[in-house]
Amino acid sequence: MSTATETGAKVELREVRIDYADGPAADLDLTVAPGEVVMLLGPSGCGKSTILRALAGLQPIAAGAASVDGEPHDQSHKCAMVFQEDALLPWRTARRNVEFALAMRGVPRPQRRALAVDLLGQVGLTDFAEHLPRRLSGGMRQRVQLARTLAARPRVLLMDEPFGALDAQTRLEMQRLLVSVWRRHRTTIMFVTHDVDEALLLADRVVVLSPRPARVVRVVDVDCPREPDAQLEPTFARQRQEILALLGHDLTKP
Ligand SMILES: Nc1ncnc2c1ncn2[C@@H]1O[C@H](COP(=O)(O)OP(=O)(O)OP(=O)(O)O)[C@@H](O)[C@H]1O
Ligand SMILES: [Mg+2]
Repeated sequence: MSTATETGAKVELREVRIDYADGPAADLDLTVAPGEVVMLLGPSGCGKSTILRALAGLQPIAAGAASVDGEPHDQSHKCAMVFQEDALLPWRTARRNVEFALAMRGVPRPQRRALAVDLLGQVGLTDFAEHLPRRLSGGMRQRVQLARTLAARPRVLLMDEPFGALDAQTRLEMQRLLVSVWRRHRTTIMFVTHDVDEALLLADRVVVLSPRPARVVRVVDVDCPREPDAQLEPTFARQRQEILALLGHDLTKP
């Protein structure tokens, strides 16, 4: 059995409205192509996490329709969420955390170990498979989470500021790792970040959202290559400036 996920699914949000008791949190129209990486950027509290939670089926939508490959999003079971905080089982080793997800997918016990080791290899943790989470660094725990999420073979990865708590160097490593995992699996990725550079480094398209309720202000097609030195390209600086302006940062002020 291969550990490669199926190709990513198409995600469609048609006039999706998500409400809290005190009013709407999002009002959204967006189509994400199969295997596309879309980064969501917007002011704090605008409704980004709410949107991902709704797609994961953790939050009801009040109006409109969300679908994954044409199926209602809450029945498709194709989306998997990766959180910023660490959600590993602390009493299980890295390998057994991944095996747990394989068991949930119904993979028979004799096959789980080899698959888990393979997935941990894909995230660069071959030598740490038998470590408990508390013996791993923050970046390593985030890698285990990614391996565990991939074990479920999601067709859409929903990532809510997954690298927000990591130091700059580890964050860079995780960004590169995500690109390599994405090249292998071609999963559709919807990724929330506050970091414009991270958005430009990873995205096919950057979706800039308005203050709450989140609406699409602009969709920016990223012209920069997904390469380590992309930030040196003039197009990178230009698109960075364009997005910051859309987010309301006044670049003329210090
Ligand atoms: N359970 C809830 N009940 C009522 N209001 C909520 C609830 N959860 C979130 N909100 C509000 O809804 C808005 C959107 O929240 P959300 O967490 O989606 O924002 P966000 O864009 O992810 O913010 P951040 O960038 O700070 O993570 C916020 O104003 C928040 O206070
Ligand atoms: Mg959030």
